[in-house]
Amino acid sequence: MVKACVCGAAGGIGQPLSLLLKLNPLVTELALYDVVNALGVAADLSHIASPAQVTGYLPPDNGAERALEGSDIVIIPAGVPRKPGMTRDDLFVCINAGICATLAQAIATACPKAFILVISNPVNSTVPVFAEVLKKAGVFDPKKLFGVTHLDIVRASTFVSAVVGKPAEASGYTVPVIGGHAGVTILPLLSQSKPAIPSDILADKEKRDALVYRIQFGGDEVVKAKDGAGSATLSMAQAGAEFAKFVLEAAFGGKSKVVQAYVYLGADSGGAAVQKEIGTELEYFSVPIELGSSGIEKILSLGKLDEYEQGLLGAAVKELGPSIEKGATFQPSPP
Ligand code: NAI
Repeated sequence: MVKACVCGAAGGIGQPLSLLLKLNPLVTELALYDVVNALGVAADLSHIASPAQVTGYLPPDNGAERALEGSDIVIIPAGVPRKPGMTRDDLFVCINAGICATLAQAIATACPKAFILVISNPVNSTVPVFAEVLKKAGVFDPKKLFGVTHLDIVRASTFVSAVVGKPAEASGYTVPVIGGHAGVTILPLLSQSKPAIPSDILADKEKRDALVYRIQFGGDEVVKAKDGAGSATLSMAQAGAEFAKFVLEAAFGGKSKVVQAYVYLGADSGGAAVQKEIGTELEYFSVPIELGSSGIEKILSLGKLDEYEQGLLGAAVKELGPSIEKGATFQPSPP
């Protein structure tokens, strides 16, 4: 019996994400929470013949807590997306930090042991917001809090296939992406791709620059093409559902898995060795992790970075520090 809850379920990401979770055979209960239209989305999905029982919740009468009650996994695409000309950071100042703090408080009350998957941007700052609220409530478990950067990994795989000239699904490139989830903080480890990327592409600075730029700023392609109607929703839903599936299969299906996610590396997290590799004591970073029955079983080494990637690492670290600080020091306004 696995209960999943989506917060922000009526949104551009929330709806297709909820559909994909409804189709996940491991999920037996699916609770949908949003400030609008959650009941309609739930009624719609409930007609699909799959095991998950779907229910919808709106804010009145502690709707968030009722939706979250007893959840094993919570996935959060709540908030506002970017419009052309906006950075992910602009969203933090607007509204998303407050929404994340409120939802974190509700999780602390209703399902403190749940796996928490944060999609709301800017992930580099919203994950620290979650951690701080959970710490204050005395229920923070660093093994169970994930900033979802999986779309960057999906994009890296797709864009590498395009450059190599093979269809994505046939070539099956797996490219680790570490760092954060915004612009230059996104650090694709092309040198660790499996299978290896042809050396003539890696050695050609112009080609490599273009590939790295596309992975780092792929989100902007979608924002621009949608021309004011939002940012990536369908690809994000697919990536979010896939990441949730990995977490659930490791927790409830006995299948461990190595993935990358933006996680806490501070005290008692087992992240000290990887902090040494990064070269600073940043408390959050997207790193390779081994998933298991209790969430993050192990934080793994970054592996060998080539000289090009060492350069990218410096730029990522420089930008991540202030973003983390902004999230960790955010003061929610009193309810
Ligand atoms: P959207 O505006 O279509 O949907 C957001 C939903 O959140 C709406 O249905 C809204 O009613 C709901 N919402 C607002 N306040 C809420 C609250 N207090 N509690 C519960 N729900 C609330 O936006 P979209 O496109 O679905 O994006 C959602 C977030 O995901 C944005 O912050 C966006 O930047 C982020 N995102 C993250 C990505 C990643 O890779 N991590 C990729 C793409 C988007």
